[in-house]
Amino acid sequence: MSNLLELRNVTKVYSRGVINANATIALQDISLTLKEDEPTIMTVAGESGSGKTTLAMLLLGFITPTTGEILYRGKNITTLRGKDKLAYRREVQAVFQDPFAVFNPFYTVDHLLTVPIKQFKLARTKAEARKKMEEALTAVGLRPEDVLGRFPHQLSGGQRQRINVARALLLKPRLLIADEPVSMVDASLRANILETLRNLQRDHGVSIIYITHDLTTAYHIAKSIIVLYRGGVMEAGDVDTVIKEPQHPYTKLLVDSIPWPDLNRRWGEQQIKVREGGGRSHGCPFMSRCPAAMEICKTQPPLYELNSHHTASCYLYSQQPEVVRERLSAFLPS
Ligand SMILES: Nc1ncnc2c1ncn2[C@@H]1O[C@H](COP(=O)(O)OP(=O)(O)O)[C@@H](O)[C@H]1O
Ligand SMILES: [Mg+2]
Repeated sequence: MSNLLELRNVTKVYSRGVINANATIALQDISLTLKEDEPTIMTVAGESGSGKTTLAMLLLGFITPTTGEILYRGKNITTLRGKDKLAYRREVQAVFQDPFAVFNPFYTVDHLLTVPIKQFKLARTKAEARKKMEEALTAVGLRPEDVLGRFPHQLSGGQRQRINVARALLLKPRLLIADEPVSMVDASLRANILETLRNLQRDHGVSIIYITHDLTTAYHIAKSIIVLYRGGVMEAGDVDTVIKEPQHPYTKLLVDSIPWPDLNRRWGEQQIKVREGGGRSHGCPFMSRCPAAMEICKTQPPLYELNSHHTASCYLYSQQPEVVRERLSAFLPS
């Protein structure tokens, strides 16, 4: 089965100025594949500063990896041209945190939806364009007559975010990258929007990378999860197993701070301070805060296989078989 999208040993380093001592390793050695024929919802979880948005930007081609490569349908995204590039730009869509961000206050909802239709030549006539808009709005649970013709300020935050999802859906994407899509939406509407995302996966075959700092929403929506800390994969696997039986000390800490089963409370409200800068290049990123830290943690732990759908990067499990990082996706059920 072929891969839709593949990350091969992707590392992203941001360097401020010429002196590299000021560099931040935002993402370190991430390998990941999304299969073409198995639409899934994968969560990437971690607190602020863990590299989640960097991953989204890389996947969308807005920034390039420092090392490693990203392939779309087998081709490096930095070298895509013509038809292939257009297909990638249409098939990989994003919904961001801020439901206002993509709205120009002077244009109606119709305009926002018309732009991608024109850009990608999705309709030949006005009537066809209108029909596509209505279909997309209906698919995200909006009534076209409630929102078409309106200006952004005449809509609720939840409606705006759903219009963003509809806009992405118009393009019939294969992959939707949703970076904290509900964190700025009223708690009462969060479950609703997450349900909309789940319908996209189920009914429209769209794979979703759901990026969040909130483990409770991850648990409700996703099939698999990758837990990041300072750019490194700490633990990954089946969402049920990772959240109910976390094994990495970092994930344990996070799960312990969730008040179950309240979907509306945000995970990570008590922030675990993330140190800025510090061009770490080896050792476990979590070592300095880990209650179980050992001498050996000064060298980077490999991933260990806990079972067929659960892996953790921690020497506590060094009696388990090692997993090469390139095989991470084998532990993520779809
Ligand atoms: N454009 C940038 N220049 C320099 N550092 C950045 C830039 N964007 C993000 N970073 C740093 O990279 C790290 C990861 O950031 P980010 O990907 O935004 O994490 P998250 O989305 O999980 O909060 C942070 O330490 C952040 O300060
Ligand atoms: Mg972010």
